[in-house]
Amino acid sequence: MPALVLLGAQWGDEGKGKATDLLGGSVDYVVRYQGGNNAGHTVVVGDQKYALHLLPSGILSPGCTPVIGNGVVVDPSVLLSELSGLNERGVDTSKLLISGNAHIITPYNVTVDKVTERFLGKRKIGTTGRGIGPTYSDKINRVGIRVQDLYDESILTQKVEAALDIKNQVLTKLYNRRAIAVGQVVEELLGYAAQIEQYVADTVLVLNQALDEDKVVLFEGGQGTLLDIDHGTYPFVTSSNPTAGGACTGAGVGPTKISRVIGILKAYTTRVGAGPFPTELFDEDGEALRRIGGERGVTTGRDRRCGWFDAVIARYATRVNGLTDFFLTKLDVLTGWEQIPVCVAYEIDGKRVEELPYSQSDFHHAKPVYENLPGWSEDITKAKSFSDLPKNAQSYVKALEEMSGAPISAIGVGPGRDETIEINSFI
Ligand code: GDP
Ligand code: IMO
Ligand code: MG
Repeated sequence: MPALVLLGAQWGDEGKGKATDLLGGSVDYVVRYQGGNNAGHTVVVGDQKYALHLLPSGILSPGCTPVIGNGVVVDPSVLLSELSGLNERGVDTSKLLISGNAHIITPYNVTVDKVTERFLGKRKIGTTGRGIGPTYSDKINRVGIRVQDLYDESILTQKVEAALDIKNQVLTKLYNRRAIAVGQVVEELLGYAAQIEQYVADTVLVLNQALDEDKVVLFEGGQGTLLDIDHGTYPFVTSSNPTAGGACTGAGVGPTKISRVIGILKAYTTRVGAGPFPTELFDEDGEALRRIGGERGVTTGRDRRCGWFDAVIARYATRVNGLTDFFLTKLDVLTGWEQIPVCVAYEIDGKRVEELPYSQSDFHHAKPVYENLPGWSEDITKAKSFSDLPKNAQSYVKALEEMSGAPISAIGVGPGRDETIEINSFI
């Protein structure tokens, strides 16, 4: 019954798509359990590059069944265009399964996301504008629309009416926008129903039966630990639980079934959108990380904020997710620095702090305490085993492992599938 969770250990964009794709050939199911098309997961197969937003990265592995779990929020127009984009490139998407309990991102949720951000002004979160927060709000407020509602016109109409009742008041009276017509939304949503129907399934049953039959199930997280609504840098977070527990609620699989939790960890740190980021760099080192690492958002095209590796965050990720392993990515990007600073602790109000402070105010003015590790200049992109790495790169990895609290079982030395050093096998 091996179920593995693969998740982001920092603020997203750690290389989850590549890691998932690498394991895709050996697993039977790849399941997205939270988030939606705010994610942008890059997979490079040979000379082909894919950017997946809503679909699990396992869709590119022919033997694997991709699943969109109940915890995901689904924008049907994005789903259909992502599917047709892959079909045009010769990818078979017919095995996809979508939970009937997954919530739908409606057009008004997208509108509310954008309008709210605009009105927050300086205090905005810097969301991806994909309607993620408002859709999860509707879910928690019990006025959400689920995939299964697309197949009952009368229920759908009642639910859209209930959802728009208050929203239209807010849109027209507070935000000075036009009201959204119930009929128009219902018509648009019904238009998707037939096109999606073949994929809709009882995914909880399917996944639990698969685990009973000893099939291998991989849960692919979106976003990352520090963007988690409960455990992240609230309010500068996304509106779901990317952390390991989210895999259980977002897919309907009990915690006793999870055998391994792999944290994807970039060899330095990036963040998109607003919020605290202690090791952020505003100098040429930050610029160099952005340039060499190609740190530009897959979903929004925004430049990513860049900084040195933060071991306090990595330790925190180990703790809140119960990580069994790390997959360290983008080590190749650090080639060429004489010294590589690594944040080992914070200084807050003159005191050294080893663990992530629970107080948001403390975190906002935490100053990184750096230790300089010796760098390397040799090209490492062809390295196939740990011993192929230059001594200083080996020491960098070992130092990160010691500070972060879980073994580093794989190292990424390039974006391609093969550009990976496997130390301990995951399956
Ligand atoms: P995700 O959201 O976690 O899937 O990550 P993104 O796809 O948003 O960003 C990661 C970027 O790094 C993508 O462009 C990947 O192709 C690339 N990448 C992943 N692993 C490595 C690696 O080990 N080295 C290099 N140079 N690039 C990598
Ligand atoms: P992947 O899966 C990086 C960030 C946004 C914003 C905050 C809230 O590719 O790692 P939202 O639209 O979710 O309400 O925005 O979360 N964010 C991400 N940052 N990678 C992602 O996904 C992200 N998904 C959301 O930039 O700061
Ligand atoms: Mg991404």
